[in-house]
Amino acid sequence: MSSDEKTLKAIKFNKNDVSLDILDQLLLPYTTKYIEIQTIEDAFQAIKKMQVRGAPAIAIVGAFAIAVEVFHYLQDKNSGKTVGDLIKDIDYLVTSRPTAVNLSNACNEIKDSLKKYDSSSLIVKEQSDLILDYAVNLYEDDLANNFKIGDNGVEYIKRVLNAENFKGPFSIMTICNTGSLATSGHGTALGIIRSAYSSLQKDVSKEEFFLEHVYPCETRPYNQGAKLTSYELNYEKIPFTLICDNMASALISTLNKSKAIKQSTAPVKFIIVGADRVVSNGDTANKIGTFQLSTISNHFNGIEKFQKIKFIVAAPKTTIDYKTQTGDDIIIEERPANELTSLKGPVIDGDKIGEKLVVGIAPPGISVWNPAFDVTPHELIDSIITEDPHVFEKNSNGEFELQ
Ligand code: MRU
Repeated sequence: MSSDEKTLKAIKFNKNDVSLDILDQLLLPYTTKYIEIQTIEDAFQAIKKMQVRGAPAIAIVGAFAIAVEVFHYLQDKNSGKTVGDLIKDIDYLVTSRPTAVNLSNACNEIKDSLKKYDSSSLIVKEQSDLILDYAVNLYEDDLANNFKIGDNGVEYIKRVLNAENFKGPFSIMTICNTGSLATSGHGTALGIIRSAYSSLQKDVSKEEFFLEHVYPCETRPYNQGAKLTSYELNYEKIPFTLICDNMASALISTLNKSKAIKQSTAPVKFIIVGADRVVSNGDTANKIGTFQLSTISNHFNGIEKFQKIKFIVAAPKTTIDYKTQTGDDIIIEERPANELTSLKGPVIDGDKIGEKLVVGIAPPGISVWNPAFDVTPHELIDSIITEDPHVFEKNSNGEFELQ
C-alpha cells in the first residue's frame, strides 16, 4: 500500500508472526510504500536493486530475511531444507552487495552458529530460534549503538571546538545517506548530526558555539544525499542546504574565509561521513565522493588563514573489517551505466507528483565507469567514531589502532 505520509522507519519486523516489511527507498522522497520480504531471494533482490541500502540496514534486512525464511521451513513439513541448503543460500545473499562488510559479518556469524549441526540434517526449531534471536539482537544493538555514536560524536565536536576556542555558529558537511533509513534508526554520521543539533542548536547549546547549518552533498550518481539525507533533515526540521558534490570546495572556501552565502555565514568545521567498510589500518570505503571530501578538507587545513576542518568517519564496530589490512584489498562494487546516463523520478507539476519517467542525460551507449564506493586513505581521516566511548585518532606515527 502506498501513501504520502512521511516516515523514517526503513525496517518493520514483527516478532509475533515473524514477518518483515521494508520501506521501498527507490520511491522516496515522494511515496511511502512498504514491501514484504518473505525469502532470502526477496532480500537479495531488494538489496541489489537498492530498495534498502546503507551498510547496517542491509545487514539487518539480510539477517531478518534468513530468520523469516527459516521460520517458513518449519511451517512447511515438506520443505526438506537442510542446514547445508541454508548455508548455500546465505552465501548467495552475501553476493548481493560486496563492499559493505556488515552483511557478510552478520551472515558469517549466523553460519558460525550453524557449524555445530550436521549439514545434511533438516532445519529444526532450535536453529530457527537461534537465527531469530541473532537478527533481533542485531537490530536492537544497532539502534542502541547509533545513539552512542551520536553522543560520542557530540563530545568529540565539543572537545575540538573548545580546544580551538571556537565561538559562534558552525556547520557540518556530509555525503550519502547515513541516517535512520540506512540503519535501524537514528543513524551513524547523520546520527551525530541529529544528536549535535538537538544539544548544540542556538537556543539550547550550553557552549559558546552552536550548530547552525548542515550541507548534504547530492551524492551523484544515485543521489542518496538529495533523495534520502535531505528527506531526513527536512523531516527533522534541521536547517540544511543541498549542494552538488562539485560545490564542496567553493562552499567551504566561501564560508571559511568569513564570507556569507545567503543561507548562512557559519564555517564548515566538520565533514562527517559513514562507512561501508573500515579496514584494519583505518582506510575507509564509503559512498563514491567521500575520498574527494577528505582531500578538500586536507587542502583547506594546510592554509593558515582558513578555519580548520575535521574529517570524521562514523560507523558501528560491525562495519570494521579487522581481517583486511589496507583499503587496496576492498572490493569495490561497480554499478550499471544507466545510473549515470539517465535519471528516474516522477513528473512534478506544482504540488502534484505524477507518473514516474526515465530521462536520458547522456548519449546512449557511451562508455561509463560507475564505482559505487571509494576508499579514503587513513592519512586523510582525523577520527573514527564508533559506539566505543574511546574515539579513534591516529597515534604519533600517524596510524590508527582500531583493535
Ligand atoms: O549504495 P548505498 O545507498 O547502500 O550507500 C549507502 C552508503 O554508502 C552509506 O554511506 C553507508 O552505507 C554508510 S552506513 C550508514
